Amino acid sequence: MKTYRIAVIPGDGIGKEVVPAAMEVLDKAAQLDGRFQFEWTTFLWGCDYYLETGKMMPDDGIEILKGYDQIFLGAVGMPSLVPDHVSLWGLLIKIRRDMKQSINVRPAKLLQGLPSPLRNPNGFDFVVVRENSEGEYAESGGRIHSGQDEVAIQNAIFTRKGTERAMRYAFDMAKTRRQHVTSATKSNGLTYSMPFWDEVFAEVGRDYEDIGQVSNHIDALAAFLVMKPENFDVIVASNLFGDILTDLGGAIMGSIGIAPAANLNIEREYPSMFEPVHGSAPDIAGKGIANPLGQIWTGKMMLDFLGYPELGAKILDAMEATLAQGVKTGDLGGEATLRQVTDAILQQLQ
Ligand code: NAD
Ligand code: IPM
Ligand code: MN
Repeated sequence: MKTYRIAVIPGDGIGKEVVPAAMEVLDKAAQLDGRFQFEWTTFLWGCDYYLETGKMMPDDGIEILKGYDQIFLGAVGMPSLVPDHVSLWGLLIKIRRDMKQSINVRPAKLLQGLPSPLRNPNGFDFVVVRENSEGEYAESGGRIHSGQDEVAIQNAIFTRKGTERAMRYAFDMAKTRRQHVTSATKSNGLTYSMPFWDEVFAEVGRDYEDIGQVSNHIDALAAFLVMKPENFDVIVASNLFGDILTDLGGAIMGSIGIAPAANLNIEREYPSMFEPVHGSAPDIAGKGIANPLGQIWTGKMMLDFLGYPELGAKILDAMEATLAQGVKTGDLGGEATLRQVTDAILQQLQ
C-alpha cells in the first residue's frame, strides 16, 4: 500500500482545532479507498514555539519539511502575542517562498445545502489562481526618515517569469473547466506593474485562442463577484488582489471558514502546502466552535493533487450532505460544534 508522508503544522488558534478534524476525515477517506494511507508527522511550530524559542520554526525547518511529500497547515498568527509580520514571514510565507509554491489555487462555489448571503448566487463556481511568490508581497522597500518626515516604501515586483507562470497555469486550468479566464488588473491606477501584467496576459492569451479572455479592474471585479459571480470561471490575480478576492469568495459561499486553498509547487520539486484561506480566528479559538469545512475541503484539494480526484469528490459530497442535514457551525448560522460537524461528515463518508 502506498504511504504518503505528510508534515502537519496546525499552527495557531483554530488551526489546532480544524487540522486534527480534517486529518480524521482524510484518514477515513484513505481507509475507504484502500490504495494508500497517510503517515502524519506533526510539528508544533507557530506563535507558542516563538515565545519559547524566539523563532517561528527551527533553523533547519525548511530542510525538515523537504523530507515530506506534502504539508498540511492550519493557520498562523496570534497578533496579541507576536506581531503578524514576524509570525507570518517566519513560517507561512517563508514556506511558500522557500518551497517555490508559486501558485495558490483557491476555488469558490455555491455549495448544496448552504444558502449564499447573495440574493442571486446563480450557482457560481470559480477558481482564483493567485500568484503566490511576488507582486505586492515582494520583500522590497524600507522605512526612512523619522517623525513627520517618515516615509514607508513597499515595492511591488512583477517578473515576467512569475507573471507568465501564473497566467499559463490559469489558462491551462480553464481548458479543463469552462474555457474562460478573467485577469484582475488595475492598469488604470498603477503605472508600471499592472500595464505589464496586462501585456503578459495578452501575450500568453495568444497561445490559448480558444479560451475566452477578459481583463477586469480589481475594483469592478470585486463588485461583479457580488452581483454576477456566475460569470466567472478562472480568475488570475496578483498576490494581494488574489488574497482579497478569495476572502470575498469565501464570504459569498457563506463564510470564509469554508474556503479552501492549495499553495502549489507546480514543478513538484518540493512539497506543496495545503492550507485554508482563513486565519487563526483568535476571537473563537479554543472553544470548539470553529468551522472545519475549510480545512476539510483543503484536504480534498490535497487528495486531488496526489491523484485521487474521485475520492476528493466524495469528501465534497459528504460536506454538502452534512450541510443539507442542517449540521452547521455558528459562522454559517447553525449551532453545531466542530466535533458534531466532523462526526456528521465521517458518517456521510461511510
Ligand atoms: P481570520 O480569518 O482569522 O478571521 C476573520 C473572521 O472570520 C473572524 O471573525 C473569525 O472568527 C472568522 N473565521 C475565520 N475562520 C473561521 C472558521 N474556520 N470558522 C468560523 N469562523 C471563522 O482573519 P483575521 O482575524 O484577520 O486574522 C487572525 C490571524 O490570522 C492574524 O494573525 C492573521 O494574520 C492570521 N491569518 C493567517 C492566515 C493563514 O495562516 N493562512 C490567513 C489569514 C489570516
Ligand atoms: C492568506 C493570508 C496571508 C496572505 C497572510 C496571513 C499573510 O491572508 O493566506 O490568505 O496574505 O497570503
Ligand atoms: Mn488572506
